[in-house]
Amino acid sequence: MQYTTKALTAETWADFAALVEAHNGVWGGCWCMGFHPEGVGRGHTAAGNRDAKRAHTMAGTVHQILVYADDECVGWCQYGTPVELPNIQNRKTYDLASVEAPRWRIGCIFTATKHRGQGVARAAVGGALDAIARAGGGVVEAYPEQTAERPPQRGAYLHTGPEALYERFGFVRDRKIAKWRWVMRAEVPAAGITDRP
Ligand SMILES: CC(C)(COP(=O)(O)OP(=O)(O)OC[C@H]1O[C@@H](n2cnc3c(N)ncnc32)[C@H](O)[C@@H]1OP(=O)(O)O)[C@@H](O)C(=O)NCCC(=O)NCCS
Repeated sequence: MQYTTKALTAETWADFAALVEAHNGVWGGCWCMGFHPEGVGRGHTAAGNRDAKRAHTMAGTVHQILVYADDECVGWCQYGTPVELPNIQNRKTYDLASVEAPRWRIGCIFTATKHRGQGVARAAVGGALDAIARAGGGVVEAYPEQTAERPPQRGAYLHTGPEALYERFGFVRDRKIAKWRWVMRAEVPAAGITDRP
């Protein structure tokens, strides 16, 4: 399958919203707001999360690559600066290390259930890294789940993606922040990544 990518903007909002709605708001209605400063959970509703995501999209305060199979949006990869996306999982442990902050981080990644295992997430991360390269590159962090030396995990449980997804693009382990979660880092050159799978 050949995929195309587009940024989440006012023009593509309806495509993104259709994908989220087809998955019950994603995790019951987070609308991909977990990494944004507002966060999700207590005190937040699915409708409120949708409105907040829409407001970020219309204001241009979101960086997110959508993946299309023909005209259908089938997945995404969110990225942004640490200021734009402060709410990473295992934050307390993450903050214990005195490591220079990355310029960018990858947040939420998601593939439509019917399209999993077909390279959608790979296309989404590739698109995000291309956009980062065009924006000047720099150190990028991802926070994926370890899948090796562990029983097989359904994609549904890999909230931040599997390590293999990022290894492909040259990310290497930096440190462990939970039993099965690692900080992985890659340096993206401003001109773009040349070693693309
Ligand atoms: C994790 C997820 C993004 C993977 O998407 P996908 O489109 O199926 O992944 P791809 O087909 O592009 O595979 C990319 C890589 O990940 C690996 N991978 C994918 N699913 C995997 C799994 N369940 N276990 C181990 N590795 C897996 C693939 O083997 C592939 O590795 P390769 O590049 O070495 O071949 C998808 O399962 C998903 O959306 N899960 C739910 C995530 C979620 O809840 N997001 C919202 C968080 S709030």
